[in-house]
Amino acid sequence: MKPEFKGKHFITLDDWKKNEIERLLEVSKIMKQKFHNNEDTTFLKNKSAFLMFFEQSTRTRNSMEAGIAQLGGHGNYLDTSGMQISHGESAKDTAIILSSYGHGIACRNCFWKIGNKFLREMAEHSTVPVMNLQCDLYHPMQGLADLMTIQEVYPKTQNLKVSVIWAYATTHKKPISVPLTQILLFPRFGMDVTLAYPEGYDLPEWAIVKAKKYAKENNGTFTITHNIEEAFKDADVVIPKNWGSWVNNQSDAVVDELLESYKSWKCTEEMMALANKNVKYMHALPADRGNEVVDSVIDGDHSIVYQEAENRLHTAKAVMAMTMGDK
Ligand code: CP
Repeated sequence: MKPEFKGKHFITLDDWKKNEIERLLEVSKIMKQKFHNNEDTTFLKNKSAFLMFFEQSTRTRNSMEAGIAQLGGHGNYLDTSGMQISHGESAKDTAIILSSYGHGIACRNCFWKIGNKFLREMAEHSTVPVMNLQCDLYHPMQGLADLMTIQEVYPKTQNLKVSVIWAYATTHKKPISVPLTQILLFPRFGMDVTLAYPEGYDLPEWAIVKAKKYAKENNGTFTITHNIEEAFKDADVVIPKNWGSWVNNQSDAVVDELLESYKSWKCTEEMMALANKNVKYMHALPADRGNEVVDSVIDGDHSIVYQEAENRLHTAKAVMAMTMGDK
């Protein structure tokens, strides 16, 4: 398999043309088939990827680390607290050095107003592809896996009703990168996207403008509501998930008065009953069970969260195989 997008950075799917995303999805499908058939996928023999994490991770770290091993290469897991970055070494110097040692640099940095800038600075100076493992704005690996999962269930996505819904959670102040990636990606595939959130949990205005533009260009729709029932009504896919009030309030505090006033924004059986009878429930995980969603929904027949999580492996392998290659 040729690295058709060799050297292309993977920081946001917005930098990737629709046909390029479709090609990544085709390759992800091939990776999935080969994985389940125990077929060889060593397309990146002896290649190294550096996997830098400023934050915790289960799916992203392990899909990348297992993925590069299955591609015949090696992933160096780097907890950035053990790197000289923690003493102030720059993104530029880190990128120049790591790219002189290997074939790809991947990084998770979700700090508000810092993460995406850090990745962009690395990309500017890296001679190998820089892959975003989630920043303050985007989570393209998750977006690609989400789209793959939706297409597995609904091969035709034109005018599919997909609702990205804010939900109450207290585990941590989550980034906005998952919903922001979804509202920028799904309208490009003709879906009728509804974004639902209570007052105070806005996504950036520039992203809303873009989402509307993409919906228009692709004969879909993009609607905002502050009514949770409206978002569930007749939906084919619901994605109820928490995100922090970063746009309006940059405090790191997890629980505050505003959050506590929206405890009722939860995915329950009553909400699911408003949706299409074959509705699918998705969540990037980890979920705050009992707060974002009741167990009977996430563990129930409508839930495709484990399929969605598994697809993180296949999409990660596709991105690495298509962007990394010989020096
Ligand atoms: N969905 C996701 O990115 O999971 P992790 O935080 O566990 O990597």
